[in-house]
Amino acid sequence: MVIPIIIKYISDKSFEKTIPLKVSSNQIKAVQSHYRQLLNVEFSAQESVAYLNTIIAHYIQIPRGEISLMLDNRISESQLLSIHFAVKALLQHKPLQYILGSTEFLDWEFELNEQVLIPRPETEELVQLIANQNYNLSSSSRILDIGTGSGCIAIALQKLTKAEVSAIDISSEALAIAKHNAQKLLSRVNFQQIDILDDSQWDNIPGDFDLIVSNPPYVQESEKKWMHKNVLEYEPALALFVSDKDPLIFYRMIAAFANCKLKKNGQLWFEINEFLSNQLIDLLKDNFSEIEIIKDYKDKNRFCRLRL
Ligand SMILES: C[S@@+](CC[C@H](N)C(=O)[O-])C[C@H]1O[C@@H](n2cnc3c(N)ncnc32)[C@H](O)[C@@H]1O
Repeated sequence: MVIPIIIKYISDKSFEKTIPLKVSSNQIKAVQSHYRQLLNVEFSAQESVAYLNTIIAHYIQIPRGEISLMLDNRISESQLLSIHFAVKALLQHKPLQYILGSTEFLDWEFELNEQVLIPRPETEELVQLIANQNYNLSSSSRILDIGTGSGCIAIALQKLTKAEVSAIDISSEALAIAKHNAQKLLSRVNFQQIDILDDSQWDNIPGDFDLIVSNPPYVQESEKKWMHKNVLEYEPALALFVSDKDPLIFYRMIAAFANCKLKKNGQLWFEINEFLSNQLIDLLKDNFSEIEIIKDYKDKNRFCRLRL
């Protein structure tokens, strides 16, 4: 028998116009079919299924791969309401990671909100490169992550290398999320609020690091026109943009900082703007004994490794 689910309380009237509220039943297969049709208007069939399965799995708290085994199961009205609003937000181009409040980074789940950048697959690659090329890092090594955001680089490197890790950010909101993630993932990282562009604050950071890493803001204002609405409207501008007049400002300042704070032979790793790698080499080559540009999985110049 089909039991129609009628959600009685809807606060947003505009939603009623765009998304029908009646689902034929509260069985997962009915919910899936109803919302898939709505998502198909904005997304490809493959994307719609992937988004919907992630959303359903999140709110009914099962692994995504198990949904196909549970299609006849019923969900509660509050779960249905959560799915309903998640689909609405997705149709308004809100990134799924902000809707669900979390994302996976390597082997760990990081909590997120709109005050922190959504960690990217390239950044996972950066962490893997660092860990794979530095088997010598251990609990007696010291690492600093500059512009930590959600804490993804700092926490993942602490877990992978067991090093003593510090992390800084200018944003107190980002630091609150990063601290929360470190606590939840049982990782010890020393967090500090520092503006790395203000060299009078550098004295507050102890020196002698074996490795400094940063994924600083590197998107030029002029690149906004190529960017998707979901990034421009939802992700924090503070984490993304630099002026076209001085797009390497973070790299210049962090390199100067690293010159004071790295141990001899210490390494500096950056995630970089694919269009600025030559300028970056020109800027940094005289102050380091080694400089290497590394491509990402999309074959773009994405990382820079330097040795003092
Ligand atoms: C591209 S995001 C990187 C976030 C995170 N590390 C990641 O890879 O997902 C850059 C980070 O730098 C921080 N930031 C921006 N300006 C800064 C400054 N002047 N000093 C320190 N951190 C800054 C932002 O708040 C943001 O968290």
